[in-house]
Amino acid sequence: MLGTFSYTNPTKLYFGEDALDSLPRELARYGDRVLLAYGGGSIKKTGLYDEVRGILEAAGKEVFEVPGVMPNPTVEKLYAGCTVARDNDVDLILAVGGGSVVDYAKAVSVSAWCDEDPWEKYYARLEEPDNRIIPVGSVLTMTGTGSEMNGGSVITNRATKQKIGHVFGEEVFPKFAILNPRLTFTVPRYQMVAGIFDVMSHILEQYFSGDDDNTSDYLAEGLMRSLVHSSRIAAVDPEDYEARSNIMWTSAWALNTLIAKGKSTDWMVHMIGQAIGAYTDTTHGMTLSAISPAYYRLVMPYGLPKFARFATAVWDVDASGKTDEETAAEGLEHMEDWMRELGLVMNISELGVTDDMIDGIADGSFVMDGGYHVLDRDEIVAVLEASK
Ligand code: NZQ
Ligand code: ZN
Repeated sequence: MLGTFSYTNPTKLYFGEDALDSLPRELARYGDRVLLAYGGGSIKKTGLYDEVRGILEAAGKEVFEVPGVMPNPTVEKLYAGCTVARDNDVDLILAVGGGSVVDYAKAVSVSAWCDEDPWEKYYARLEEPDNRIIPVGSVLTMTGTGSEMNGGSVITNRATKQKIGHVFGEEVFPKFAILNPRLTFTVPRYQMVAGIFDVMSHILEQYFSGDDDNTSDYLAEGLMRSLVHSSRIAAVDPEDYEARSNIMWTSAWALNTLIAKGKSTDWMVHMIGQAIGAYTDTTHGMTLSAISPAYYRLVMPYGLPKFARFATAVWDVDASGKTDEETAAEGLEHMEDWMRELGLVMNISELGVTDDMIDGIADGSFVMDGGYHVLDRDEIVAVLEASK
């Protein structure tokens, strides 16, 4: 039975090939001082940087920059961005890039005017903001995280080997997001498929929980079917606009809080994935793909009816004459075949995880209790060992 909840999503989306035309309208809502945050240079190569600078200048904005936001943004980079934002008293942070840049912009937005150490307050202690928050807008260049339409912000502390996500409330969601699927055509194939699996994982983390009849699960199944279908087309032709549009749209809906409504949700794959990321600084989606098969095989017996439903509703497994165990196992095999087809990383060794890291990764994995089975430490180690 659905519990009680409230639902709102404050992010205004502009979707399509001309979405950037709406940027001036959004910029007009904020003051003149804009902090432009972007990554390691892809936007300069594609010409998007010049285009966005041109729009900002035409809008009469004074622009300050934080370039070089790295994948898995670090706490040191956060401190540096806070200094630029505070010293120049910026009115808006415009993130142009992938999830890392958008996550980073949210981190700076809550941290710039924080009078404590923002890592300690917002990431180590996961406290809610009680200081001035700088509004964030985004022009998304890579899909997967859903950061364009949620409050998530993941920061890595390499010194302490911690990668922690804070899911902030709606006051931290981007105020607007410009989604032009064409901007994703230049994403390297490795990142494209990692992003696709990130979307799948977000849906699975929410789907594999609860045993009630919940509209969210039907929505999740539809999103997964669309994702699998479009990913197969994009894998052959990354410039198929229809497929890339559907992936972009699915990505936003996979993690904008909608399909979590009325559900407890799991998130254990992400907790182990983040711990792997803290040790290896590898691509987020690949940390998830490397452990998902072992994780779901371990959890399947505890949520068998849902795994059997997953097999029939998402992978069209014919359940007639089969036990739930057989149907469910076939569903997972289909998922693994699809993952191999996309060329995802399927083991943690390929990510650089060595035996001496296993204990640290297990200790660094927050244990979640909303899925079908709460893992103990030995089981986390078992998932990691089976994923080598
Ligand atoms: O830095 P540049 O040069 O821009 O290159 C980036 C980067 O190397 C490149 N790229 C992005 N758009 C491109 C492009 N290259 C060519 N053409 C384009 N159009 O792709 C690389 C990866 O970018 P990144 O932003 O790191 O990827 P992603 O979007 O997967 O973000 C990953 C981060 O998001 C966090 C992850 O943990 C990780 O830190 N997550 C955020 C979540 C949220 N906010 O809710 C949830 C997720 O589960 C995830 O944890
Ligand atoms: Zn993710």
